[in-house]
Amino acid sequence: MKKHRGKPIVQITDPEIDRYSENHTTPESEALKELIKSSDEALEYIDMLSGRIVGQFLKMMVQISKAKRILEIGTFTGYSALMMAEALPEDGEMVTLEMNYKYQEIAQNHFDSFPNGSKIKVIKGNAQKTITTLEGEFDMVYLDGDKLQYEHYYGESMKRLKQGGLIIADNVLWDGMVLDPEDSKSRAIKNFNALVAKDERVEQVLLPVRDGVSVIRKK
Ligand SMILES: C[S@@+](CC[C@H](N)C(=O)[O-])C[C@H]1O[C@@H](n2cnc3c(N)ncnc32)[C@H](O)[C@@H]1O
Repeated sequence: MKKHRGKPIVQITDPEIDRYSENHTTPESEALKELIKSSDEALEYIDMLSGRIVGQFLKMMVQISKAKRILEIGTFTGYSALMMAEALPEDGEMVTLEMNYKYQEIAQNHFDSFPNGSKIKVIKGNAQKTITTLEGEFDMVYLDGDKLQYEHYYGESMKRLKQGGLIIADNVLWDGMVLDPEDSKSRAIKNFNALVAKDERVEQVLLPVRDGVSVIRKK
């Protein structure tokens, strides 16, 4: 995704530091390397994919928290879903929401091709609606869908998150645009961050990693 085309973008971290960090982070499994390759062959841009640092971070959060049921908002071609599914136990479940037909098809092909893909269920349709129909509790939520709806997804996720569960939200610095928002997405992310900061039901840390990642724990 080419965000804020034509506008100056604040580089959150030094690109050399990013490269160094990536080179000192556990590489993806063969399945995930294959998924990246095939996504790259199928699509013109794959920069929506969370990438190794955020991906490995998500995987570790699943391992450390011993999450068994995870919700993801925004599947794309399945990178983060498969990354987290690799850390789930055999009877674990990943539910992921995606509205784009092409991405749904590519992601489902990936999930059908790799062993841990059987833990993943893609729910097709507009997540603004489908999230409201989900039943049961989740141990963890990865929020990576349309930025204008982060507040809505947060509210719906909190209803379904178990006590002590985690919401991990990506792109919360939005290329630094949250400091001085000039467009609706930047304003939406800024409002989302403010909402979380004043929500007494949670404690959170906003990490300046890649495009900003918040880890929010329901007390
Ligand atoms: C940043 S990408 C997700 C990347 C993915 N989590 C990964 O790491 O590979 C965001 C995804 O959200 C999807 N999306 C955007 N708005 C949506 C909506 N209203 N309902 C469902 N999916 C949506 C987009 O089609 C896109 O695939």
